Amino acid sequence: MTLERPAKLELYSDPRESATYDRRWSGWLGRARNARKARAIERGLARLGNPRVLLDAPCGNGRFSALLSGAGRRYLGADLALPMLAAAAERHRDARYVAADLVRLPFPDHAFDAALCIRFLHLVRERELRIAVLRELARVSRVGLVVDYRHSRTLRVLGRRLRHRLGLRDRAPSNPSPAAIRGELAEANLEELDWIPVHRSPWLSDKVLVVARAR
Ligand SMILES: C[S@@+](CC[C@H](N)C(=O)[O-])C[C@H]1O[C@@H](n2cnc3c(N)ncnc32)[C@H](O)[C@@H]1O
Repeated sequence: MTLERPAKLELYSDPRESATYDRRWSGWLGRARNARKARAIERGLARLGNPRVLLDAPCGNGRFSALLSGAGRRYLGADLALPMLAAAAERHRDARYVAADLVRLPFPDHAFDAALCIRFLHLVRERELRIAVLRELARVSRVGLVVDYRHSRTLRVLGRRLRHRLGLRDRAPSNPSPAAIRGELAEANLEELDWIPVHRSPWLSDKVLVVARAR
């Protein structure tokens, strides 16, 4: 199966996107968002027993390369968009990167202790493709996964749904419910170990890191 990259993902093969990607994390609010995600990632790794050999897929422009290659870890970043990989390699000259499609990773089974999939699945609208990605990440991981999801049980999503009903918003939010996320994990043959809200007030944010391992 190939991942039919929707427009939002296609965007990253445009060098203008890699050049401006980090603007999201600039300024006080952006830096705070980035730091929250980094703390949640560390918690996720701790939940897996601090695995040392990590796959960051997709790694984008290396947003978390420094974090994930620290503390004596061995790190590989994988991404499909060459401009994002080039930006990552430019920033982190000691880190290793590879061009790869998340649906068909060019690694043998259990090649890594753990795989991290940050800021990706919410851009994949098709459930079957999300499951295919989860299966592939699980295949290459020996201990488990840390997967970034955006779920529907937050005031933010409820507000968007209401605005859609009132005709003030074109599309209904597509965030899966926590139960639907657990269904996806189960179909990918994964067992949930932890559910780590990225924000201190989970009702305000839809972001969650799910820690899982193969059943
Ligand atoms: C929103 S960025 C997230 C990057 C990084 N994890 C972060 O947190 O900043 C999404 C990334 O997914 C990559 N991507 C899109 N489709 C992909 C695929 N089929 N296989 C691997 N990477 C893909 C894009 O190139 C882009 O770098």
